Order: sequence, then C-alpha cells, then structure tokens
Amino acid sequence: MSADIFEYAPAPESRAIVKLNSEYGLFINGKWVPPQSKKKFFSINPATEEVLARVSQGNQADVDKAVKAARAAYNKVWSKTKPKERAKYLFRIARLLQERAREFAVLESLDNGKPIRETRDVDVPLSAAHFFYHAGWADKLEYAGYGDNPKPYGVVAQIIPWNFPLLMLAWKVAPALATGNTVVLKPAETTPLTALLFAEICQQAELPAGVVNVVTGDGATGAALVNHGDIDKVAFTGSTEVGKLIASSIADRGIPATLELGGKGANIVFDDAPIDEAVEGIINGIFFNQGHVCCAGSRLLLQESIVDDFLTKLQSRMAKIRVGDPLDKNTDLGAINSAAQLSKIKELSESGTKEGANVWSAPCSLPNKGFWYPPTIFTGVTQAHRIAREEIFGPVLSVLTFRTPQEAMEKANNTPYGLSAGIWTEKGSKILWAAQQLKAGVIWANTFNKFDPASPFGGYKESGWGREGGRHGLAAYIKGAK
Ligand code: NAI
Ligand code: MG
Repeated sequence: MSADIFEYAPAPESRAIVKLNSEYGLFINGKWVPPQSKKKFFSINPATEEVLARVSQGNQADVDKAVKAARAAYNKVWSKTKPKERAKYLFRIARLLQERAREFAVLESLDNGKPIRETRDVDVPLSAAHFFYHAGWADKLEYAGYGDNPKPYGVVAQIIPWNFPLLMLAWKVAPALATGNTVVLKPAETTPLTALLFAEICQQAELPAGVVNVVTGDGATGAALVNHGDIDKVAFTGSTEVGKLIASSIADRGIPATLELGGKGANIVFDDAPIDEAVEGIINGIFFNQGHVCCAGSRLLLQESIVDDFLTKLQSRMAKIRVGDPLDKNTDLGAINSAAQLSKIKELSESGTKEGANVWSAPCSLPNKGFWYPPTIFTGVTQAHRIAREEIFGPVLSVLTFRTPQEAMEKANNTPYGLSAGIWTEKGSKILWAAQQLKAGVIWANTFNKFDPASPFGGYKESGWGREGGRHGLAAYIKGAK
C-alpha cells in the first residue's frame, strides 16, 4: 500500500433507532387498515437486497375508501378549522419531524439507499423546514396575492417518487394542508416506509382523522387515485411518461394538476470560472443522491479553452468519491434505488459507448450485493447522442464543449426539458445575461442544488406544470389562483 492512501475506519450510523413493523396496513381516516386487495409487496434495502417490511398494495376499493375519508374530513372538519388552528398542526408536525429526525434519516437511508450524510443533513431538515414555512402561511393566505378570500380545492391526490421520498411528501403535503385541502398520498413502491412513519407523526400531532391518508402501492394504485371521480386536484412528481398519462386523464374532467417531471440540466462552465469551486459544484450537481435528481446537472458544458485542465481535476476529484454503505457517515455515493433503475442506467450508458462517446468511471470497488454504479463521465458527447438528450437519473455525467457564450446557450436550451441550469463564471454580468437566455425554471450561479422552501421550483416544457415552494407554490392549492 502506498503511503498516500488513507483508509477511513467504518463509521456506521446505528439502525437501532428505527423500529420497523414486519407488515404495514394502509393509513385511512386516521387508522391503520388492512388492504381490501389482501395483497402485500416487499420494500427492500437496495444496498443489501434485505427485505425491510411487507407493505399493502392498495386497489381501487382502497383508494375509494381513502378519497371518501378525505372528503368527509374536508367537509366536516378541515374546511371549518380556523387558519391559525391549521397552522398549529403544521408547526406540530414540523417539530415532531425534528424530534424524530434521526429515525427518519436512518429509515430513509435504509429504504432508499441514499447516504446518511444526505438524509441527515438535507432530506430531513428540509422536510421539517417545508412544514415550518407553510405553517407560517396558513393564517396569512390573504396576503399571498391570490385575493382576499383564498379557497382550497378540497381533496387533493398526491403521487410522489422514490428519489426524495420524505422531502417530496413534505413539498406536497405541507402546502396542501396550509391552504386547507385534505390529502390522499401515494408514495413510490420502492420507498414507502418514511411516508408510513409520517402517518404516525400525523397521529402523534393529533391531526384530525382523514386529513392525510396514505395509500401504498404501485403505478396501478397511482392510476386508480388519479382516475378517481371525486378528487379535486392532482399533484405528481415522477417521470415525464406518467406525467403525460396524468395530463390526458384529467384533461376532460377539468381538474388542475401540478406536474414535476424530468430534466436534463446543463451546468455551464465559462473559461473565467473559479475552476476548483466549479469542479466541486459539478460533482455535487451530478453525484448528489446518486444522480437520482430531476434537476441534476447531468450535462456539463465546458468552454473549449479549459477542457483539458478541467477534466483532469474533475477525474481526480471523482476518484475520491466514497461509494458504499449508505449508513456509513463517510459515504458520498450510496446504492442505486432499484434493479430497474440500475438497468436503465446501464442501458443508457451502453448507448453512449455504442454511439461513439468515451466513457471513464472512477476506480472503486462496489459491494457484491445490492445495486451499485460507479461515478462515471462521458466525453466526446454530441447533442445527437441519447446520453445528451435523455434523463439517465444516475451517477453519469455527459460532457459537451462550446466556444462562445452564445453557443453554450443554444446547446443548453437544446432539450425537451427545462428544469434547472448552472452557470459558473466570475462575471456577474455574464450570469445575468445567461440567466435571461436559459429556459430553465431554476438557475443557480456559482453553486448548485440549493433548495429553500421559500423559493419556487418547477420547469418549462416537458419538465412540468406549475411551481412548488414559495408564494408561487401556494397557487397550486388555491382555487382559481394562477
Ligand atoms: P414513475 O413516474 O413511474 O413513478 C413515480 C410515481 O408515479 C410512483 O409513485 C409510481 O408508483 C407512480 N405511477 C406510476 N405509474 C403511474 C400511473 N400510470 N398513474 C399514476 N401514478 C403512477 O417513475 P419510475 O418508473 O420510478 O422512474 C422512471 C424514470 O422517471 C426515472 O428513470 C427518471 O428518469 C424519471 N423520474 C423522475 C423523477 C423526478 O423527480 N422528476 C422521479 C422519479 C423518476
Ligand atoms: Mg426500499
């Protein structure tokens, strides 16, 4: 072993704090009920393939029961609850999320495969922050700019993905409750466990029965919810493919939807950028959460004069990424969420090689069990390559180059998506110039992946409809607000 290799001792977070049930029912009308389908499925730990729990598969009848519970809770209780009382429940939920933060962080890492460093420092604190933020709005909605008597829709169907299970729950549930709606939530089938723990938080906060209902299951359960005749609004985060299905399902029913879909974000580095900082930002932009991020900076656009220097530094930084046990506090890159996602990443990466791009993966040893993919970059990528056009949703970066700032803008916007972009330059004027040209809902300058509940998030084109977070995000849950 050479003297410059410094091995870390393992630093695993204890999982003893998490008390998993072997089986879970559905959370309907404030109670745990068995599924009418009588079917269960497993949620596994993608880092080990260990079964964590058996979870209920909700069917049409289960969804119907949950929507009825949400309707009754809306009519009899929640629509009559004073805004400042609603605020108290949201504050309570936020405080409980903080009190049980460690438990949520460990459970999220177990069920999703993401590193504890991220669940502990990002997912869970940001989720609590969303409830605090929206608790503040609950009794001040007439000052939000949507009229002096803002009204909720009623019963909201919410479907969330597996990449940020608790955080996406918070982005959806907090504004819905703050504005006076009731909720039926369908978590993703590979990561239902933190939503089920959140149901316990609702009980602990003594939230009136039926205000939040959690129906677990797969895409069929999601479709049953979206197609239910008595919902007033849909909020969805996930693939553009399912987003389109939802859009057509609601089109002739006059129901509004918020859709948070895919992305192929450009991270643009100009030749005057602070290179070391930019390298860190590119790493964070694509390897945060294993690249399972809709706003990931998955296309690196480098100005030609700095390409060699930049790629050398980027590769040497990539070689230091620590891949492995998600519960180890030293881990940077955890497990790929599912076997299906891993095969999608592999298929797209293979297309990159077949179409003529050059691949390089960081040297690292991957565990034998579970689903893993090393930090990878493709150079020599052209705009026609699939890896430049399609969302890989994994730790894979496609590198393109440009000569002039105008060319960078054209390449960055040459995508069916429009969710995020990053600009790296020392010149403020260039930042403002570029930000005006880029068709992306969120643009970061000299930083990346910064989230705040007060800041609206959402996309252009096939990245979706509407915004989540901030004053703008409230509009999605207020009748008639735009
Ligand atoms: P997906 O869109 O199928 O799943 C997201 C949620 O929608 C899950 O809760 C799922 O059960 C539900 N769902 C599936 N089919 C449905 C239907 N017909 N009606 C209603 N709900 C339905 O995403 P999937 O298959 O897990 O991932 C595929 C790709 O989608 C990923 O590789 C990635 O590119 C993209 N994706 C983007 C996300 C984002 O944050 N924008 C999140 C997850 C995936
Ligand atoms: Mg799981």
